[in-house]
Amino acid sequence: MELQSRPVVFDFEGISMTHFFTDNWENVKNFQARPDDILIATYPKAGTTWVSYILDLLYFGKDNSQTKPIYECVPFLESCFQKIPAGTEMADYMKTSPRLIKTHLPVQLVPKSFWEQNSRVVYVARNAKDNVVSYFHFDRMNMVQPESGDWNTFIQKFMEGKNVFGPWFDHVSGWWEKKQTYSNLQYLFYEDLVEDTGREVERLCSFLGLSTSPEEREKITKGVHFDAMKQNKMTNHASIPFMDFKISPFMRKGKVGDWKNHFTVAQNEHFDEVYKQKMKNTSVKFRTEL
Ligand code: A3P
Repeated sequence: MELQSRPVVFDFEGISMTHFFTDNWENVKNFQARPDDILIATYPKAGTTWVSYILDLLYFGKDNSQTKPIYECVPFLESCFQKIPAGTEMADYMKTSPRLIKTHLPVQLVPKSFWEQNSRVVYVARNAKDNVVSYFHFDRMNMVQPESGDWNTFIQKFMEGKNVFGPWFDHVSGWWEKKQTYSNLQYLFYEDLVEDTGREVERLCSFLGLSTSPEEREKITKGVHFDAMKQNKMTNHASIPFMDFKISPFMRKGKVGDWKNHFTVAQNEHFDEVYKQKMKNTSVKFRTEL
């Protein structure tokens, strides 16, 4: 693990950001999407890697992600880390079709060419309570994220929408609204994926117009199981130098309901109140247990 100081958080177009996601903004804004691109959009820690790997296997089988880490197969659009090419650069040079591209941007900041090209979008949302827990452990172990602080501080920050990529509430509801007018968007829930991965893979295939045999889908479902992805060096992020797995692994628990091991009764009551207020104008509904 490389030692480095944690980045500062600042306001960018109304969203809390670090320079890693704004340094390359002109190129992000002017990014040229292609009609066959598939944008995988999520709030951080909602199951991005999981869905990226599912899509990668559906399109490229063994050719791609078995030899390359998933973050190389699926460029992270707005990222601009030192020593590795920026997300836009990686995407520009991709020869595969379709290109799978990942973003954590709230819907209003997505480069307009994706909408102009009518590119397909797969959005993955995860219930707020498990999402905040996962994000807390991620910020603890990831040196290119701001310091997590203690759990109580982190959960307060989450309720205020001050985490990197802004408020979870606006993110999931903004993308939900987009779905009402943009038909090339599939809105998935992490909880549904945990409940029945095979069913969700089938839904994805029908959205993408892919025909796969039940055997192929069964194989993919096995390959993307939490335990398999945790063992798989191409998906477990073990090779990323700025993540400290001694603090927490990237593939941590992969469960629905782990929040119950973190929230105190008081935190839960306060969170429910804030949640009710912030989500009062949206119809998107989440499950916090299965
Ligand atoms: P936990 O920290 O709760 O374990 P992202 O890829 O968006 O960063 O999301 C990471 C979260 O998704 C982590 O959640 C990780 O364990 C979980 N995850 C990744 N692959 C998974 C899988 N195959 N099954 C279930 N959860 C998975």
